Amino acid sequence: MSRPWWQDAVIYQIYPRSFADSDGDGIGDLPGIIERLPYLRSLGVDALWISPFFRSPMVDFGYDISDHTAVDPIFGTDADAQALIDAAHAHGLRILVDIVLPHTSDQHPWFRDAAACRDAPTRDFYVWRDGHLDGGPPNNWAAGFPAGTSAWTWHAGTAQWYLHSHLPQEPDLDWSNPAVRAAQLDVVRFWLDRGVDGVRLDSINRLGKDPAYRDNVAGERSRQQDWPTLHAYLREVRALVDRYPDAVAVGEVWEFDQRRIVPYLAPDELHLAHNFVFARSRFDAAEIRRTVEEFTGMAGPGTWPAWFLGNHDEPRRVTRWSAPRDDDETREARGRLAAMLLLTLRGTPFLYQGEELGLPDTELPEGVGEDGNGRDPQRTPMPWAPPSTAGPGAGFTTGEPWLPVGGTAERLNVTTELQDPGSVLALYRTLLALRRARPSLRAGSQAFLDAPPDVLAYVRADGGERTLVILNFAATTRRIDIGTPALLLLVSTGDAACSGSPIVMGPFSGVVLEAVAS
Ligand code: NOJ
Ligand code: MG
Repeated sequence: MSRPWWQDAVIYQIYPRSFADSDGDGIGDLPGIIERLPYLRSLGVDALWISPFFRSPMVDFGYDISDHTAVDPIFGTDADAQALIDAAHAHGLRILVDIVLPHTSDQHPWFRDAAACRDAPTRDFYVWRDGHLDGGPPNNWAAGFPAGTSAWTWHAGTAQWYLHSHLPQEPDLDWSNPAVRAAQLDVVRFWLDRGVDGVRLDSINRLGKDPAYRDNVAGERSRQQDWPTLHAYLREVRALVDRYPDAVAVGEVWEFDQRRIVPYLAPDELHLAHNFVFARSRFDAAEIRRTVEEFTGMAGPGTWPAWFLGNHDEPRRVTRWSAPRDDDETREARGRLAAMLLLTLRGTPFLYQGEELGLPDTELPEGVGEDGNGRDPQRTPMPWAPPSTAGPGAGFTTGEPWLPVGGTAERLNVTTELQDPGSVLALYRTLLALRRARPSLRAGSQAFLDAPPDVLAYVRADGGERTLVILNFAATTRRIDIGTPALLLLVSTGDAACSGSPIVMGPFSGVVLEAVAS
């Protein structure tokens, strides 16, 4: 049997608001993405996951959906969505849409009706409860946003509380209600019928909650997410996805213990899961090895790993992995190491827009920002060209960008980096091309080698092809004796030339080598 496409793919996340603005309103849009498809194709990625572009009051920038099947006018028209799907396919790129199954916006007609009166037909699409005897909310569950607040909001109009795992403007749907499941499966079907190649399922671990709505108890597992009931619901979603040959289901499993992530990857649930344990690893070779080996140790033979180091919710990698005293060069070196790690591990890599440019988080001036939950620094616009020639919109927009472009845009932008063979972008392009050219990097086995402290070394092997990766996470030089025959340098994060054994690895340097059989 041939491998499914998504095991060989690199998936690139587009945050549409900040990718490319075609109409000068300062907000990225779908026609903007269409214009940049040639860039994405030549970058060497295979599929695009596009964060929500559906109709929304934008309190959570599109994750609060008021109509799942209509494009928000900020992003374009329904026809633009179809044009994007078709144009991506014409460029050989697949498209994943981001579907939010566990909640809607409070402006969704289902919720507006539900809130109108207690006997509204969609009242029980959501979770309504009387208050606790003490007059407070029904239980002690906490909302994801804003941190430290209750997951229940009092609705004066109908004198009950409603549940929301995230913002109060994002009421939770009750997935134990078959009518909710049917309605949300219709949404998934709608987009698959439009020709998308897969779905990214937002907050999927929120589908199941303790049906008795009991209080959380400190030190015990949370009762408001990852409840075992959700797996049956997820199987219904998967059964639908399976009716579309080749379609993939990726889930955001917002859990911080890999033992909680792996069950979602059962053969009849998700194909791929975002792994936050890996994404939150420290800059530490031993910790990364432990995480990867723990995952592969727990995963069944059919379970395929996926790795990411950045998205629209997490600080950018270069920032997360840099130390306060790092100069630009050191910060960049750590970022290069991250690139080599992500693109050579066994498993499907996800890249977040701008990661390929080596972007750090943007430091926003006091008082500037839109997200109440501190995620603006990783969401500032994609710099396409230096502001000195393209203006303050850096090629993202001809208007005023909705968030300022990062202060590094003069140096770190697509146009400048494409012209520089030593740029971070050039490294990503090289690594992506290498992954495409070498089956061992995509499909091969992976075995870690014993290595000095702070060094991560592994061999990827497929048939007769062997690829060796060595990453030095230390700020000092390390020597590593591989004891293998002849080695050929394929890619280096810097200008390290390495031949013979022991291999001398400079601070924060990485290499990919071909092990040539003697
Ligand atoms: C996860 C999304 O990635 C995040 O941006 C959003 O705020 C929450 N889910 C709620 O949908
Ligand atoms: Mg626009």
